[in-house]
Amino acid sequence: FGGQRLRGRRVVVSAGPTYEDIDPVRFIGNRSSGRMGFAVAAAARDAGADVTLVAGPVALPTPQGVRRVDVRSAREMHDAVLAAANGADIYVGAAAVGDYRPAGAAAHKLKKTDGEPLRLELTENPDIIAALAASPTHPFLVGFAAETRDVEAYAREKLARKGLDMIAANDVGGGRGFEVADNALHLFWADGDVALPSAPKTALAHQLMAHVADRYLATHGP
Ligand code: C5P
Repeated sequence: FGGQRLRGRRVVVSAGPTYEDIDPVRFIGNRSSGRMGFAVAAAARDAGADVTLVAGPVALPTPQGVRRVDVRSAREMHDAVLAAANGADIYVGAAAVGDYRPAGAAAHKLKKTDGEPLRLELTENPDIIAALAASPTHPFLVGFAAETRDVEAYAREKLARKGLDMIAANDVGGGRGFEVADNALHLFWADGDVALPSAPKTALAHQLMAHVADRYLATHGP
């Protein structure tokens, strides 16, 4: 359905977690599998787009016909996304970007502290999608919001605060959303919303991209 509605358009998708190194053998990560973002990249390709997928550390095959850039940390993802999104038409930020990183990664493996608490100082990471929004020529911006409660209120607040065109909210309370094949999304934009009921991530990704194409083409011509 929908045909090749994004033919000739450039779409950038971020996916997966970020890993923030503590020392040469340890890191801070999160439970994102990357499946939703990889499915979004494949759905954008199916809509005819030229797709770049910026992937955090995940064990997933690259969707056929998609250009993939592998990164590890939030700062690497920031640089790769900003480079790929320059001149792009649509950005979908499906990555679970770590909000913080250790203030300084140790050059050697940390040793036990002999009963003393070990203190890790954390520094805030750059917000990638907000950095994109700051550019006057930014692509159509689609963010994700994983929430465990008050999903609509937090999603709408994030939509406005980060300057996004659309946000895809998922309720990850009670084991939903992460590390599973099915998901449900609720899409919000400035003057509308649509709920996409629970379905395999591949099917949801196609529905999401159909709504993104609707909203994008409504403002950026056929
Ligand atoms: O604030 P929160 O992390 O819930 O926002 C989620 C949205 O913002 C996602 O689209 C995510 O990819 C993006 N994000 C980002 N850079 C960050 C944190 C989140 O682009 N440092």
